[in-house]
Amino acid sequence: MRLTVLGGGGFRVPLVYQALLEGHGDVGIEEVVLHDVDARRLEAIGSVLRQLAEQAGRAPRVTATTDLEAAVLGASFVFSAIRVGGLQGRVIDERVALDHGVLGQETVGPGGLAYGLRTVPVMTRIAETVARLAPDAWLINFTNPAGMVTEALSRVLGDRVVGICDTPQGLCRRVARALGEDRMWFDYFGLNHLGWLRSARARGRDRLPELLADEARLTSFEEGRLFGVRWIRALGMIPNEYLYYYYNNAEAVRAISEAGTTRGEFLLAQQESFYESVRAHPEHALAEWRRVRHERDRTYLGEGRTAAGLGERDSCDVEGGGYEEIALALMAAIAQDRGDVLILNVRNRSAIPSLDADAVVEVPCYVDANGPVPVAVGEVPQYAAGLMNQLKAVERAVIDAALTGSPDTALDTAFLALGLHPLVPSTVTAGKILDGYVEQHPQLRTRFT
Ligand code: G6P
Ligand code: MN
Repeated sequence: MRLTVLGGGGFRVPLVYQALLEGHGDVGIEEVVLHDVDARRLEAIGSVLRQLAEQAGRAPRVTATTDLEAAVLGASFVFSAIRVGGLQGRVIDERVALDHGVLGQETVGPGGLAYGLRTVPVMTRIAETVARLAPDAWLINFTNPAGMVTEALSRVLGDRVVGICDTPQGLCRRVARALGEDRMWFDYFGLNHLGWLRSARARGRDRLPELLADEARLTSFEEGRLFGVRWIRALGMIPNEYLYYYYNNAEAVRAISEAGTTRGEFLLAQQESFYESVRAHPEHALAEWRRVRHERDRTYLGEGRTAAGLGERDSCDVEGGGYEEIALALMAAIAQDRGDVLILNVRNRSAIPSLDADAVVEVPCYVDANGPVPVAVGEVPQYAAGLMNQLKAVERAVIDAALTGSPDTALDTAFLALGLHPLVPSTVTAGKILDGYVEQHPQLRTRFT
């Protein structure tokens, strides 16, 4: 079987390959095809993978190409990890909003909308290529904003596209650990980066109330510390870590502003030096990758954490269980017809009654050779339904602005999206932020002028 990785020159690609070498999702992948628009990044990541393979016994063959059609043809699975506009684009997404006193973050707030506006057209063309050349392949999408992008792609690929994120599973893993359980049913629901854990059952009993009542255990892990016992008890649910940007928006914006650098700026500097040093010393590619990866993981999702006064991330959160594990678990569930339950981004059907059938949601899914089927979530608290509905309207305005209409009407739709976003304080600010994006992002200038 062939696995194609789009964005194959990206820094996180070795995580996927490493997980394959360790036998995760052992489904008989014989060939990994890396595709990227940047041949030099492919070269650098290729060196890292070669050195990983040398240390392993049997390793899937790796090839690399900048030709999308050649990469996709014959693939059983296509992973998408592209970043349209690169980290330079992320810096603009974050900085423009922050300069107007609004959250500057990769996926939440205006930054995520700008990222979506750039990404949806490119990913849609890729999905059309996959539909044409590998109609039986599964497209596993990590490209952010993952929920919005997956919804746009589902219009081309139907249920053959599945979006993934590591944060729901991360939360569930931490809750299970705090409760000393190894097998639980997690009643988690939401949109990507906008979800809640409503119950965690073991042996037929919901153990979440017990966890919420126990301050020491609740604050023994990330989300408990981020949101605090009082707020979690008020909600009666544990929010996904990304909800920090909503529930503690003022603190997050202040902390990011005071830090002086955004996450994108930090990563841009780090990655430029990584690719540069691998070019100069390819023989040390793997060692350098490991060093940089460690530095990056320790500070991962750093903005919210700094604001909450938290230090470095727990080492047990950092090691393993990231998005590559979820991607491989999904691949294994499909290829081996396993019937596993995984939290994934798929079309709603009727899982969450307050959203329509085509809305992509993030919920537990039963997964076998036929792909994922969402489980029925049922009614959710009104405040959660309200926020999800609002954000879904915003996401859809972005998709419309990215794909349809003349430059003028599309710009109106993009303005609507920004003006309706709950984290943008006024339409005046929304207009200024949008103008900033159009001015600074070449892709948006072309689309809107
Ligand atoms: C998590 C999220 C991803 C996000 C990443 C940001 O893994 O699930 O959606 O892209 O964090 O990490 P970074 O190191 O790029 O800030
Ligand atoms: Mn994510």
